[in-house]
Amino acid sequence: MQFNHLFSPIQIGPMQVKNRFVVPPMANNFANTDGTLSERSLQYYEERAKGGFGLITIEASVVDPTSKAGHHKPCLFDDSVTDSFGAVGNACHTFGAKVSVQLQHAGPEGNSTISGHPLRAASAIPAAPGKEVPVPLTVEEIHALVRRYGDAAVRAQKAGLDAVEIHCAHGYLLHSFLSPRTNLRNDEFGGCVENRLRIVRLILQEVRQRTQGELAVLCRINACDDIPDGLQVSDSAVIARLFEEYGADAIDLSRAVHQRDDRMWAPREMHGGFSAALITEIKQAISIPLIAVGRFTDPYYPELLLEQNRADLIAFGRQSIADPDTPRKIAENRVHEIHTCTACLQGCVKKMFAGEPITCLRRRSPAERSTTNV
Ligand SMILES: Cc1cc2nc3c(=O)[nH]c(=O)nc-3n(C[C@H](O)[C@H](O)[C@H](O)COP(=O)(O)O)c2cc1C
Ligand code: SF4
Repeated sequence: MQFNHLFSPIQIGPMQVKNRFVVPPMANNFANTDGTLSERSLQYYEERAKGGFGLITIEASVVDPTSKAGHHKPCLFDDSVTDSFGAVGNACHTFGAKVSVQLQHAGPEGNSTISGHPLRAASAIPAAPGKEVPVPLTVEEIHALVRRYGDAAVRAQKAGLDAVEIHCAHGYLLHSFLSPRTNLRNDEFGGCVENRLRIVRLILQEVRQRTQGELAVLCRINACDDIPDGLQVSDSAVIARLFEEYGADAIDLSRAVHQRDDRMWAPREMHGGFSAALITEIKQAISIPLIAVGRFTDPYYPELLLEQNRADLIAFGRQSIADPDTPRKIAENRVHEIHTCTACLQGCVKKMFAGEPITCLRRRSPAERSTTNV
């Protein structure tokens, strides 16, 4: 099989990406406690750029100091971090990759013990039954937060990055506004769809205006929430279409809230492309590029999805942890040499939740493991 679609360039707003291989945002706990990206962060991202990924997304980075939910989360709420993001960007650019950073407020999925501040959300609905009840944001606080997203995007731009991704998925703050399950507001930020999406519309406007259209702006959304009263794919198709109308340059399509982590980072029994029907439904709703994700470990079904115009780019999440050289091996006709992610979750997700640097049980030989970052 030829992989011509996977290796063709694509335009995302003002950013041209050399191929369709994406590293999605993945928290790794390599950042320093002061919110800067560390030397280890740099080596980790650089290794994936060297391995041939066209678009590298720096993990969820905190836009508001009251919502830092982990000691090793990178932060973009202070100018002191900009150089460290710039160093990562430069390292990846050397290998022809474009670099995006995901902007996040953890909202009801935060950690008030670590942040020292109460959890915040659209309404007082906890992330899961029995969990801490968040405090709704006031209208004034919403407008201040919108400016913080703009500040963070300007820092990303000053660092020389190519794109920012607004995290609107997985039950974090912005997602809590999108879903009628978690948004019970009766002001202009709640009620009908356009009211529930208003906070993201304001963020998109703010980011575009403050960065003069020079940064690509992506939105990560859920294809569905995978819980009975959460967003369904029909809701998400409308959200994707409206985000396009509001000025998003691409949709990065994930799925599930953390109550359904078995759909967010699927286990071994789920095969690559298990979300294909949902991906296709969202693709039909928009004309901007769509990034698909979900247990992809080899190039075959990804190439087919691109050829059939059911997706535009393919994110290899855990596969990029397990083998950062995946695109290069495919390009060099060495598919059989790819170290395949087994979806064991033991090195990556387990460590991430423990607040420790991620590892991978699948990474190469023990000797190599001792000299590489993951
Ligand atoms: C260790 C780890 C950390 C993650 N952190 C983030 C994150 O910061 N932001 C986000 O939107 N998704 C995050 N994800 C989800 C991935 O971006 C991706 O959507 C998910 O792993 C499914 O892709 P895969 O099956 O190719 O691994 C994370 C996943 C893993 C495994
Ligand atoms: S630790 Fe397991 S699930 Fe995580 S990337 Fe490695 S092989 Fe995949």
